[in-house]
Amino acid sequence: MTAQTNTHKQTIINSEDAFKNIVSHAKEYGFVFPSSEIYDGLGAVYDYGQLGVELKKNIREYWWKAMTQLHENIVGIDAAIFMHPTTWKASGHVDAFSDPLIDNKDSKKRYRADVLIEDYIAKIETKIEKEVEKAVKRFGENFDEKMFRTTNPRVLEYVKKVEEINIRYKTALEKNHLAEVKQIIEDCEIVCPVSGSRNWTEVRQFNLMFSTQMGSVADDAGTIYLRPETAQGIFVNFLNVQKTGRMKIPFGIAQTGKAFRNEIVARQFIFRMREFEQMEMQFFIKPGTEMEWYNYWKEARMKWHNSMGFSQNKYRFHNHIKLAHYANAACDIEFEFPFGFKELEGIHSRTDFDLKNHEQYSGKKLQYFDVEENKSYVPYVIETSIGLDRMFLAVLSHAYKNESLSDGTIRDVLQIPPFLSPVKVAVLPLVKKDGLPEKAREILDSLRFEHYCQYDEKDSIGKRYRRQDAIGTPFCVTVDHDTLTDNCVTIRYRDTMQQDRIPIATLSTVVEKKVSLKNALKNLH
Ligand code: GAP
Repeated sequence: MTAQTNTHKQTIINSEDAFKNIVSHAKEYGFVFPSSEIYDGLGAVYDYGQLGVELKKNIREYWWKAMTQLHENIVGIDAAIFMHPTTWKASGHVDAFSDPLIDNKDSKKRYRADVLIEDYIAKIETKIEKEVEKAVKRFGENFDEKMFRTTNPRVLEYVKKVEEINIRYKTALEKNHLAEVKQIIEDCEIVCPVSGSRNWTEVRQFNLMFSTQMGSVADDAGTIYLRPETAQGIFVNFLNVQKTGRMKIPFGIAQTGKAFRNEIVARQFIFRMREFEQMEMQFFIKPGTEMEWYNYWKEARMKWHNSMGFSQNKYRFHNHIKLAHYANAACDIEFEFPFGFKELEGIHSRTDFDLKNHEQYSGKKLQYFDVEENKSYVPYVIETSIGLDRMFLAVLSHAYKNESLSDGTIRDVLQIPPFLSPVKVAVLPLVKKDGLPEKAREILDSLRFEHYCQYDEKDSIGKRYRRQDAIGTPFCVTVDHDTLTDNCVTIRYRDTMQQDRIPIATLSTVVEKKVSLKNALKNLH
């Protein structure tokens, strides 16, 4: 192995700048573009470019195979986006799928009242962690963190404050007591981040579903909704799949597809979009077994996330204070995005809420006959629900590194897990003549049946390496004059920038070992 002389260090920049860099990198290299950009874009709607679509497809495929291929009792469907409008009455979305919004009268900015309160709580929690960090520094090895957290007066004061707000906030939301939500904002002296004032309007509920008209009927009878979650397509097909697939409880139905929400506060790039993609799985179980399966899926989903190879402390569970209208237990898997820990995936114990309501509204039985129990029942459901775009952002933001090299140069590199990288191999002839392009294309032709590869002969080899680093290609293969006689190539590794000379005959195996989805799935199993 030829050791590269450059050592590399991650350039330290603040998280706001880091996030800006990720957004502009995503655009510059064809991952994500603002929608209809020539018309100045459309709020919180984005298009995936030529590399973004590959990365997105790879993440989707990894999720899909982890769900369906690795579980005999999980099958997939692809339901339509449009559904009978009664679906959304039954699911509770018409009546309850709304966010409490509040406006600041000075800045005219609109906020989600619950988010303002949650951010306020998060700030207090950060203060607690800062106190702990300071104490660690002060007391060194003898520091007893548990003791400190349970006795330090300042920490206890913060904890008490968080608990008090949480209780008030939970009760207010559960009772839909919007005046009390506003009172909490006032009591906490929460200010508008733009105007800095506390001049707030009343809190109002705002339904997040988009509606449109079906056919030529202009009255209400023709109003349908763009689905706000993919889950309902699974519930209404529960019996179709159970019967035709002869599925026995417990079993799951998985689906990926678009969902639409008229988000009030749509910020942070593809984190919160108005049109986005979900990857959801509903796991149908015997009533009474829900906590067992809820814990099973919490663990299984965290294992899937950890298999990305990101540091474990990038993830954490967050139990819901305010349960959605359908859940009796729920948590999020949060990821540390450049703007802090935020929800990446939800795991919900949805009881029999959805199937029971669909039974009631449709008049059709949606029950399972349990041969062992010799009785029929409406199954309970554990749901795992992850946003594909959020997962994309998690991968991209973790992968993006702006490294200062020891030779004084800087390189942008995307350290995407190789099995998810859009391009797996770049084949590069050292020069554009002497038969090297032909040899390089021969190699490319042998690899392209297995992997998405790129051919590049423009600019110096150094520039070409950097271009591939910037899009996350794990391997660059360089064809030089010696290749024509010794049938060997130089393979360069993205993360270490080290280079190896290897026979062309072994190339496919070397690449496959690192980039194969099969190996990733095996590690998961
Ligand atoms: N079926 C349950 C459900 O939809 P959710 O917590 O509202 O639950 C699940 O959404 C996941 O969908 C979230 O964890 C998030 O990853 C993703 N998601 C939700 N709203 C989103 C939005 N506006 N933009 C991007 N992703 C979103």
